[in-house]
Amino acid sequence: MTDTELKALGVVRNADLKPLTTFAVPAKAKFYVEVKSLDALRRVLSHPELSREPRLVLGGGSNILFTKDFDGLVIGMRIDFLEEIGQTEHSRTIRVGAGRSWSQTVDETLERGWPGLENLALVPGTVGGAAVQNIGAYGLEAAERITKVECLDARTLEPCVLDVDECDYGYRSSIFKSEQCADLIVVSVVLELPKVFEPRIAYKELAAVFADAKPQTPMEVAQAVKSIRRKKLPDPAELPNAGSFFKNPVVTRIKQRHLLEDMPQLVSYPLAGGRAKLAAGWLIEAVGMKGKRAGDAAVYDRQALVLVNYGNATGEQIKALADEVAGKVRLRFGVKLEPEPVII
Ligand code: EPU
Repeated sequence: MTDTELKALGVVRNADLKPLTTFAVPAKAKFYVEVKSLDALRRVLSHPELSREPRLVLGGGSNILFTKDFDGLVIGMRIDFLEEIGQTEHSRTIRVGAGRSWSQTVDETLERGWPGLENLALVPGTVGGAAVQNIGAYGLEAAERITKVECLDARTLEPCVLDVDECDYGYRSSIFKSEQCADLIVVSVVLELPKVFEPRIAYKELAAVFADAKPQTPMEVAQAVKSIRRKKLPDPAELPNAGSFFKNPVVTRIKQRHLLEDMPQLVSYPLAGGRAKLAAGWLIEAVGMKGKRAGDAAVYDRQALVLVNYGNATGEQIKALADEVAGKVRLRFGVKLEPEPVII
């Protein structure tokens, strides 16, 4: 492939990925391209050589850890729009480009007076990332508002639209993370927002904020969520991180009972189907790893679920610290911690 050809497509060779991920660890991509439209994406994917490269789509880069260089094509998803496409008596439907910032999208819907996304205020990343990852916080998951996910099939270059019930949504998971969807690139997401504000404030910390007076507007809920998040979660612009590094593990009710017999203080929540979710942050704190630092890689001292990079940590060092944390939790509690970010 000639440099002129690459330039015409906006493709950069040997690109630096460090500024493109919120963990800010050093890594390079063999090829990197930013796409702002479906046509631009098609042009890149229809190039015979680029189409054969291993592929990775980056949204906000807020849920990924590079432990080595990426020997292929990294696509920076920048398709960025928001449009209202319909309404009924009870709801409003919007379509949002996969590359639009999630947190801006939440703010914009609230400014337009549309409730529905307030609990997910300030979650980093893009709308595409939200649909792939099924982001969730303070009692709401993205899948509850998504109705369709619009993709481009990188192999056929044809559109492929999935209804929400085809997306196999679960806790921080979706079909888009599975091998069957390896060729699908999310390009836009359709969300349905209720017209009537239904405050969702059962989450412990929100309930505490609104103990005396129920919120009257979704903005109030968003403000409360933002202030809780700012207290507990480091701002990646100041202290690089990727939010929760581990998922909260799901165990059987029997396992939960055994753990509680030993440690009645363990924080856990019953789930349907005879299962229970354990607060991984609590487990990590209990094995003494909260605040633990190994070089510039560290377990955040205000929220043990978050790993941070104090400056010059490499992806490998962060991964090694994560393995140490998971190893200690496994040894002490017999519980397996799974990472939430994609690890390359
Ligand atoms: N806890 C500790 N020590 C810690 C952290 C937490 O003991 O260092 C215990 C506390 O008792 C706390 C409980 O764990 O009450 C749960 O903590 P928190 O409410 O902060 O929620 P989380 O389980 O740590 C999850 C999500 C977050 C989301 C919050 C709020 C996961 C992996 N993380 O965190 O999502 O913002 O709930 O809904 O599910 C993310 O996915 O990147 C993320 C930040």
